Amino acid sequence: MPQQNGKVIRNHEGHLLELMDEDVQSVNAFKTRIMLSREDDSSTSEHVVKKQKRHGAENDNCTVDKTPVDQNTIPVSEDEFRQYHQAKSRVREFYREQHEKQTMAFNLQARVNFKTKSRARMTIWEALCKLSMLIDDSDPDTELSQIDHALQTAEAIRADGKPRWMQLVGLIHDLGKILYFFDSEGQWDVVGDTFPIGCQFADEIIFQEFFKGNPDDSHPIYSSKLGIYEDNCGLNSVMISWGHDEYMYYIAKSQSTLNEKALAMIRYHSFYPWHREGAYRYLMNKKDYEMLSEVQAFNRYDLYSKNLTKYDLKELQPYYLDLIDEFFPKKHIDF
Ligand SMILES: [Fe+2]
Ligand SMILES: [Fe+2]
Repeated sequence: MPQQNGKVIRNHEGHLLELMDEDVQSVNAFKTRIMLSREDDSSTSEHVVKKQKRHGAENDNCTVDKTPVDQNTIPVSEDEFRQYHQAKSRVREFYREQHEKQTMAFNLQARVNFKTKSRARMTIWEALCKLSMLIDDSDPDTELSQIDHALQTAEAIRADGKPRWMQLVGLIHDLGKILYFFDSEGQWDVVGDTFPIGCQFADEIIFQEFFKGNPDDSHPIYSSKLGIYEDNCGLNSVMISWGHDEYMYYIAKSQSTLNEKALAMIRYHSFYPWHREGAYRYLMNKKDYEMLSEVQAFNRYDLYSKNLTKYDLKELQPYYLDLIDEFFPKKHIDF
């Protein structure tokens, strides 16, 4: 069993992390499709999922109609609908634990740990390969692969003629999952949607009811709307729940020359209550609105580039090694 800084790396658990992350993502993809369908929907909306509540994309009463759709809508297939429901029960238990354990105390400690410990030093490419190996190795039949998702996201961004920095974001946005093999306490502090800590948990957060088990939810300050923050203080001043997004953001911020849009895409890509559901507007400043549209633009590639094409790693490697070198001046990165 491989070891890192004396900590045993749990190969088989890596695959479990990926399965959970897949479920979380499929729930998000389904909910986003419904939301987009609703936005695109005309009054003759026979073809898409019906009977939704306000935040009720997860509503169990949804029905699917197989009437052909026009090109501008994103249909929800029966298969996707079934997968969503299977995923949803597993995701539910995951979020119960995440919502109970993501406290202010935990988040402060996670940042202290991050800043005071050294975990591993390697190149970005090595980290991508390592993550892929650790997560995917235990199941030879799996369709899932970290490096495939990284390349698919990056290649979809590249194919759309987006800038090089954004292509690199596609490649590295999930690299922070490597945290699972170093310091994490479970899956709940690595993957899943993220949300602010230190103020009220918004209704728009998935499975909001599970915050009842979080001590911060009854804390006199942390449970108030503004909590420790001020109106429109800007998201930069807000502590977002700890996970692969925050972790990778800190690494990219301190060791790359990536611009603020790129850093926002990395940092907020799992912040669904904000970038999809419209919550926490009262904490945003002017700049955050600019960042919001950037994060939303990135999210399409993250959610919908999966399983399209399997790329030849050898063929693409030189292109992406150049891209990494362009924005990470130091070859070996401290993870
Ligand atoms: Fe992610
Ligand atoms: Fe991703």
